[in-house]
Amino acid sequence: MKRAVYPGSFDPVTYGHLDVIKRASEMFDVLVVSVLNNKMKSPLFSVEERVKILKEATKDIPNVEVDSFTGLLINYAAQKQIHVAVRGLRAITDFEYELQIAQTNRKLSQGALDTVFLTTSLEYAYLSSSSVKEIASFGGDISECVPDFVAALMKEKFRNRSGVL
Ligand code: PNS
Repeated sequence: MKRAVYPGSFDPVTYGHLDVIKRASEMFDVLVVSVLNNKMKSPLFSVEERVKILKEATKDIPNVEVDSFTGLLINYAAQKQIHVAVRGLRAITDFEYELQIAQTNRKLSQGALDTVFLTTSLEYAYLSSSSVKEIASFGGDISECVPDFVAALMKEKFRNRSGVL
């Protein structure tokens, strides 16, 4: 069974992430989409909320599992007996950062965790969770960036936060 993990913050999941999830799910028997529980960031959605959102957004893809992790990706992957991480590349600006993480993970895991990159489909290349949050915080239209139910949840969050990021 070929299994892979797609790690990320997913705060929130965008159509760009979902495009990567759909395409990666066709390459592996099981794709585990795993939300990083990063104590250093102050996310819009809690890890539990992000997991729930991802489960809803991927409910029609049977070989996708949604999970969360803390700490190093290599330890999480080893514990799950997964040897491939999937990441999306939008543009050259992503490349340097992603290359560094991929090489670090390969070195730290002594070759046990490799990274496969999927180039984001062109229509989603401009998308990032950060810009989607910024647009939503000012009441902008994010209907082309995230599924409708995510846009509604974001609207709710920003209403409660009085529009502050
Ligand atoms: O969606 P993001 O925030 O770009 O995802 C980054 C992520 C979660 C893939 C990366 O930060 C990560 O794997 N963090 C876990 C900690 C870790 O393993 N760091 C070592 C690589 S330098």
